[in-house]
Amino acid sequence: MKNTTQVGIIGAGPSGLLLSHLLHLQGIDSVILESRSRQYVEERVRAGVLEQGTVDLLCDSDLGDRLRREGLVHHGIELRFDGRGHRIALSDLTGGRAIWIYGQQEVVKDLINARLAADATIHFEVDEVKLSGIDSTRPVLEYRRDGRDHKLTCDFIAGCDGSHGVSRDSIPAGVLRTYHHVYPFGWLGILAAVAPSTEELIYASHDRGFALHSLRSPEISRLYIQVEPDEDINNWPDDRIWEELSIRMATDDGWTLQSGPVLEKGITPMRSFVVEPMQFGRLFLAGDAAHIVPATGAKGLNLAVHDVHKLAEAFSAWFRAGTNELLEQYSANCLGRVWRVQDFSSFMSLMLHRYSDDDGFRGRLQRAQLNYVCSSQAAARSLAENYVGLPHV
Ligand code: APR
Ligand code: PHB
Repeated sequence: MKNTTQVGIIGAGPSGLLLSHLLHLQGIDSVILESRSRQYVEERVRAGVLEQGTVDLLCDSDLGDRLRREGLVHHGIELRFDGRGHRIALSDLTGGRAIWIYGQQEVVKDLINARLAADATIHFEVDEVKLSGIDSTRPVLEYRRDGRDHKLTCDFIAGCDGSHGVSRDSIPAGVLRTYHHVYPFGWLGILAAVAPSTEELIYASHDRGFALHSLRSPEISRLYIQVEPDEDINNWPDDRIWEELSIRMATDDGWTLQSGPVLEKGITPMRSFVVEPMQFGRLFLAGDAAHIVPATGAKGLNLAVHDVHKLAEAFSAWFRAGTNELLEQYSANCLGRVWRVQDFSSFMSLMLHRYSDDDGFRGRLQRAQLNYVCSSQAAARSLAENYVGLPHV
């Protein structure tokens, strides 16, 4: 069992796995500690929209084989309201950039396969991960595995353990500033074994609440409806979900939604969260450990990929040339994009959801905003360039 490594990584989600892979390509050794099983992390259903820049990075890092074969390129999305659909021509408005539909768990499977093929050390099902000495030059990760205690001495630690992990909380009190906003709604999401009723994603704004039609493949649809944040999933038998989706997505020209067997369903609250800075001593936070965005902008995974790309470059500069400038700039280099994406995700969320306390004023503003985005090239381009991912922020 290895007891030293260059970078100790907590978490085998997209952030931890991609960081480990990018470091490996630079000849840097890492060990990943994950509390869940391999099967659990590979099967966890999450979002599925990849920005052009995310796809380019995955393909440039030898992770594009299956993505290129099975991923679906989309050149537009639809905004639907008042019984009519309006196409936002993403690629035409952004000089040819696009988004790709490829489930996050497929990215995770590809990463685990690539890491294991390169003989990486990923310890699944570890318990009681503890960090110490993060303000020293030899930070330590202690953990329990198969009933035995282990110690891993590192040059650096990467906290890639999501929003409920341990790494962020091991930073001394008073160092981090936390920003948190809870939106007054959640999303009930289903994965269904039915061909999508649309070729492009549909974001629908309706008096009864928001609805989204997404997909995973020509056979699998992914759909969401806005619900109360504390809604009980037991109130939503499958028939009720399909009926509500049909009402919220209905058009004047009689568009129909095909229903099918529900494979998975769950409720996600919508919130924004950011910590600043994303680093303390030799501990660097990446992905959901440092920030959460509401799902309306489809940005969570893309933001995580941006973080670990920056972090891998910074570690590489340190181990190759002994320079710590990029490590010092890591947090600032990430937070610019984090806040741009928070703003975009908040813009999409506020424009599309129904607020239960609305006296009618907010609804009118939302309609004005939707009409503007669907009639002005400048407004549509702004939405499009954010949606496909700004290349330089
Ligand atoms: N010890 C070890 N592993 C842990 C611990 C712990 N104490 N706490 C959490 N983990 C693991 C989780 O089990 C999970 O597999 O860390 C991993 C974190 O993965 P994600 O939550 O997927 O976070 P991240 O890799 O940053 O991915 C960001 O995931 O949540 C989506 O929308 C988000 O798409 C974005 C992406
Ligand atoms: C998804 O396909 O899961 C999805 C798509 C678009 C979003 C959020 C989630 O905005």
